[in-house]
Amino acid sequence: MKPAPKTFHVKSFGCQMNVYDGERMAELMTADGMTAAVDAASADLVVLNTCHIREKATEKVYSDIGRIRKDAGKLDRAPMIAVAGCVAQAEGAEIVARAKVDVVVGPQAYHNLPGLVAKAAAGEAALDTDMPLASKFGALPSRRRVGPSAFLTVAEGCDKFCTYCVVPYTRGAEISRPFAAIVDEARALVDAGAREITLLGQNVNAYVDENRGLHDLIRAIDRIPGVARIRYTTSHPNDMADGLIEAHRDVETLMPYLHLPVQSGSTRILRAMNRSHGRDDYLRLLDRVRAVRPDIALSGDFIVGFPGETDADFADTMSLVDAVGYAQAFSFKYSPRPGTPAATMEGEVPAEVMDARLQALQAALGRDQKAFNVASVGRTCAVLVERRGKLPGQWLGKSPWLQSVHLLGDHAIGDLVTVELGDATLSSLAGRAIVAKAA
Ligand code: 5AD
Ligand code: SF4
Repeated sequence: MKPAPKTFHVKSFGCQMNVYDGERMAELMTADGMTAAVDAASADLVVLNTCHIREKATEKVYSDIGRIRKDAGKLDRAPMIAVAGCVAQAEGAEIVARAKVDVVVGPQAYHNLPGLVAKAAAGEAALDTDMPLASKFGALPSRRRVGPSAFLTVAEGCDKFCTYCVVPYTRGAEISRPFAAIVDEARALVDAGAREITLLGQNVNAYVDENRGLHDLIRAIDRIPGVARIRYTTSHPNDMADGLIEAHRDVETLMPYLHLPVQSGSTRILRAMNRSHGRDDYLRLLDRVRAVRPDIALSGDFIVGFPGETDADFADTMSLVDAVGYAQAFSFKYSPRPGTPAATMEGEVPAEVMDARLQALQAALGRDQKAFNVASVGRTCAVLVERRGKLPGQWLGKSPWLQSVHLLGDHAIGDLVTVELGDATLSSLAGRAIVAKAA
């Protein structure tokens, strides 16, 4: 038995949806009377909000639990540990057996966290990985103060069943939240300080409530006074509706950025991945998006070393990268996940081949990212100031194309500053604030 915790610390890993869930768990515990600790070592309760997407991410949870215990031990403390997120969902009671944690709670059950913590404090088993039909969102407290850029989950889960992916198993079937509840939450976020709202879903562009899609939601949020910027992530090529492409043409607050994972440039591998789109479908789609929004920054995800991937398949990925010219992209080595169809496929790619392919791909993506930043030099745009920089008087913010921009001067978090972009590196640009001269 452990005393009921008074302070908590949430640590989120993985995707933006976990960041959102982590914020909502923190709000939940605050509403329950706990206060946020400055760090994990000084908290009575540490919540690890975990990611199961690749093996490395999963193993990190166990090493983290060990480190938290060690650091707290030095201070003569033994915090209660709760494992939340996708590892909790996938491994359930196994985590309790392996790491003796106090609470295990899945991504669809975290509204029950305070009750589970109370149970653990009473010495009872506290595990909840149910995926109830009733939405957890209705059971969460309303939004409190947030930063200028806020996440808002609009849909969860996935029905696509790409053969490498655990998401359909850990997050469950795809489900969209009610339209009105999302617009209400967006309004609450603006009242709490947000100027930019990023709509989240594993397949956010598959959002649907009756006959309304993501583009309708974007247009409704655009009408909320105080919303300066709207973004959405992550999208699937097959759900890129005409209405959404048109929104990129018409809605000024919708930022010119599209994260559209392709995973591979080889149609043969895409078929083995069950992606249900080919290489050419993807390229045609990007042409249509670029036709309405020529300056759009494109982003994607890639997996190298999927079972059976040949040199020729990988060459197709490299040529697709050349054809697209991504502003930013994420690339990963294939990691077999228990229970997924690809885990039992033949044609394992040797580790050294995988390493070499990842390196070549990342070099090409880095080259394109730098080129995109260099091409932005001289552009005038708005930068949303998100935080202070490391240097005195320095601020960090984002351009419409999601580039990190640092600028100097008399600004404040949440300001939209008009800047001219200068000095580009791989990961950021320098912005010079343009002060409107008085007439
Ligand atoms: N191995 C490697 N990368 C994966 N991803 C998803 N599943 C796996 C896996 N088993 C990548 C995909 C996805 C991103 C979130 O993670 O590129 O788009
Ligand atoms: Fe995973 Fe594919 Fe669904 Fe994305 S679309 S979450 S990669 S199954």
